[in-house]
Amino acid sequence: MSDMDATSSGQIVTSGTWWQKAVVYQIYPRSFQDSDGDGIGDLKGIIQRLEYLTWLGTDTLWLSPVYPSPMRDFGYDVADYTGIDSRFGSLEDFDNLLERAHTLGLRLVLDVIPNHTSDEHPWFTASRQSRSNPQRDWYIWRDPGPDGGPPNNWRSVTGGSAWSFDERTGQYYLHSFLPFEPDLNWRNAEVRAALLDTFRFWLRRGVDGLRVDMVDFLIKDAQFRDEPNPDYTFAEARRHLNQPDIADPIREIRRLSDAYPERVIIGEVNPDLDVVQIAAYYGKGDLLQQPFNFGLLKLPFEAATLRAYISAYEQALPQGAWPNYTLGNHDTPRLATRLGQDGARLAALLLLTLRGTPYLYCGDELGLENVSIGVEQTQDPWEQREPGRGRDPNRTPLPWDGTPGAGFTTGEPWLPVGDENTRRNVESQQQDSGSLLMLYRDLLTIRRCSPALELGDLKLRGGTREVLIYERTLGNHRMLVVLNLSAIPQQVTPPHKPGGWQSVFSTRTGAKSGAVETVTLSPQEGVLLS
Ligand code: NOJ
Repeated sequence: MSDMDATSSGQIVTSGTWWQKAVVYQIYPRSFQDSDGDGIGDLKGIIQRLEYLTWLGTDTLWLSPVYPSPMRDFGYDVADYTGIDSRFGSLEDFDNLLERAHTLGLRLVLDVIPNHTSDEHPWFTASRQSRSNPQRDWYIWRDPGPDGGPPNNWRSVTGGSAWSFDERTGQYYLHSFLPFEPDLNWRNAEVRAALLDTFRFWLRRGVDGLRVDMVDFLIKDAQFRDEPNPDYTFAEARRHLNQPDIADPIREIRRLSDAYPERVIIGEVNPDLDVVQIAAYYGKGDLLQQPFNFGLLKLPFEAATLRAYISAYEQALPQGAWPNYTLGNHDTPRLATRLGQDGARLAALLLLTLRGTPYLYCGDELGLENVSIGVEQTQDPWEQREPGRGRDPNRTPLPWDGTPGAGFTTGEPWLPVGDENTRRNVESQQQDSGSLLMLYRDLLTIRRCSPALELGDLKLRGGTREVLIYERTLGNHRMLVVLNLSAIPQQVTPPHKPGGWQSVFSTRTGAKSGAVETVTLSPQEGVLLS
């Protein structure tokens, strides 16, 4: 691969918006901090722990849903878009959280879920009453197919048909996710207006951005035609999602957000989508500011694979579009479980030095691993539908210290903290300069002081099957990142630079200094040079 085809395609960014420079920390509210002993994290608990985010060096908090909900999908099944579930607190607690965050210099991005509601949302309760109900068309109802079965061959993300039959009115309703999460009909103008109103409610309250759940599913084929390939992956879907006119509602959402100063719209697109499909969601700069890029969650952690992916992603991005990378979230097995503890250190260096906004999932900075959850403790309904796909193991509470309840709760945690994870707690890692937590903190300090890392161009520099090398440049500022992704030691001669390279950081030994002519890397070691 030549250096030419590996260079970032964006315009040169020199000052950047807050969300381009942001390092985002995702809080899964149930598992962050419980303040009242019921074993479930809450807003008051988040307020108590907010300084942890600034201590770590992150500056933006993405809050997963806290709306009133039957909690069958733990808040992604919304029963009221403009309230707070009493298990999490009150609107007043939310306002306090927002105010405290802003006082600390943190931005807050709120999860919004416009593709579906809970089946207990009053809109759906009305809609399912009768075929003639005024809100019937707010959801997607269809007659059975000719054989009496579902109207078409669309699949739910969680397995099985995307349609469920409702006895009362003899029609099927569409649910792209779980059966108790009926899809709203975004082709209906009243639905659009109602949803935009709910977004306005939160933007007015002062949230700095919205993370839009399943945004690529909002618009479906108007004729509900079968997917041509019945075994389609979501990247191959032609009718169910990713429709050409998906740009219309997204443009409306963006216009609304742009009416408020300095807001950002981040969108969750299906993890199956390829880089070209992801890139389309930037539009001409008028759609999402950040369609999530989940490449690092799926790809084998190998130098050649990552190099090809980074290159393809950079090339696919429209002019001026800002990239982003995610290493973990509440839907994916834990980073340290996927890559091991050494791999997690290397991945931290990768995430925090690539060009783009990094998204960090709470607990990955501690190297938390999946906790094995017994059948009787299972909470996530996806596990029942597709055993092994449940997300409980990666949603366990954050261990703050080594006490019973791990400093998370004085009660019985909703999911077990896990003995291994309790040992990896915040307090103990804060006292160990070699811990993963301190590695994150050190790297975040370096990043904050480096214009090249925050905003610079990215150029892939040669490398081998085992070693990934890239350079970040902004004006005279240059940083070189060298990652040995293999299990054997490697030696690398960095590209020529007048004045030579200086060591800055190693994932094995921490901060370093001194001139470097040849880089010698232990297995799974990464270094940063300037
Ligand atoms: C994606 C969210 O990240 C996931 O947790 C949720 O269950 C589904 N969308 C449905 O809202």
